Amino acid sequence: MQQAENTDISGEEAAAASIPGPLAVSVAPMMDWTDSHCRVFHRLLSPHARLYTEMVHAQAVIHGDRDRLLGFSEVEHPVAVQLGGSEPALLAQAAHIAQEWGYDEVNLNVGCPSDRVQAGRFGACLMKEPSLVADSVAAMIAAVDIPVTVKCRLGVDELEDYDRFRAFIDTVAAAGCTTFFVHARKAWLQGLSPKENREIPPLRYEWVHQLKQELPQLTIAINGGIATVEGVREQLRHTDGVMLGRAAYHEPYLLHELEVALWGGELQSREQLLRTLRPYVEHCLARGIALKHLSKHVLGLFHSQPGGRLFRQILSEGAHRPGADWSLIEQALAATTMTDRTAA
Ligand SMILES: Cc1cc2nc3c(=O)[nH]c(=O)nc-3n(C[C@H](O)[C@H](O)[C@H](O)COP(=O)(O)O)c2cc1C
Repeated sequence: MQQAENTDISGEEAAAASIPGPLAVSVAPMMDWTDSHCRVFHRLLSPHARLYTEMVHAQAVIHGDRDRLLGFSEVEHPVAVQLGGSEPALLAQAAHIAQEWGYDEVNLNVGCPSDRVQAGRFGACLMKEPSLVADSVAAMIAAVDIPVTVKCRLGVDELEDYDRFRAFIDTVAAAGCTTFFVHARKAWLQGLSPKENREIPPLRYEWVHQLKQELPQLTIAINGGIATVEGVREQLRHTDGVMLGRAAYHEPYLLHELEVALWGGELQSREQLLRTLRPYVEHCLARGIALKHLSKHVLGLFHSQPGGRLFRQILSEGAHRPGADWSLIEQALAATTMTDRTAA
């Protein structure tokens, strides 16, 4: 069973060998952002980062348009699908389908606090139901050979207590889950929007560090507010991996810098990297996919660089026009070679 394999790849051993573990860097699941086009771009920036889909509900996987929901490009490996849901049998079925589609991992969402998700009794509100999460994970593990992982919070609402958090992890780990991605803050289920729930509850990295210290046999990756190479290095001293969300999306070059910092290789320029995306862009355009669906993911590539604002502006204004093609990207790239630093 691959759950055991997950333990083999624990960061402790990798750190001992000075090799970053396979989950050292990952890009978080983000609805409306980490679609397949985005993941192809991120893969070019970082061959090693593990990439996550947007959350997809188990029911949708079972009954919906699988091409649209699960389709991905081969280059995206290693790629994980994130499932939402709380019915063990349905999650198991959806996990099995995801495995058949070729995903490398199935991740269960126990962190999303949106009203819609709560109404469906999944996401962050499951932090209150550890045994249901354990049953779900056990059913998924029984249905697949690929690793089943969990992305969770520290707690919800007034349940902000390390021992409760630890008890949640213990219960789910007892069901066979060996890998946890922890968004290091709690969520308020009432009164805060999902966006506020990513900003207002304080980050408590020390809880995640303590968890790893107490349960070294588990693979523990930390998430929340980490946005620099140094920040990642620091977290890797305490955990097996860092999951990056907004920083990876808004400043994608960070993924490339991390790739080189952790795995070596030569640092390529932003322009070089973007040009390697050209065959994929041309392929999509030929299939009738509008440029705007691709270019939106690269807007932050020149973040805080000379010409970065103009790059973003040219792409966001031009990509919506009918017939927009690669030449628009060339035009945007040309803006970044201008020496006028005020354009940054
Ligand atoms: C636009 C957006 C969509 C998100 N969608 C999901 C999701 O589908 N599943 C999930 O587990 N977390 C989702 N998140 C939360 C992120 O995965 C991550 O936990 C959070 O942004 C904190 O990490 P960061 O500070 O590095 O961004 C989303 C975040 C953003 C910004």
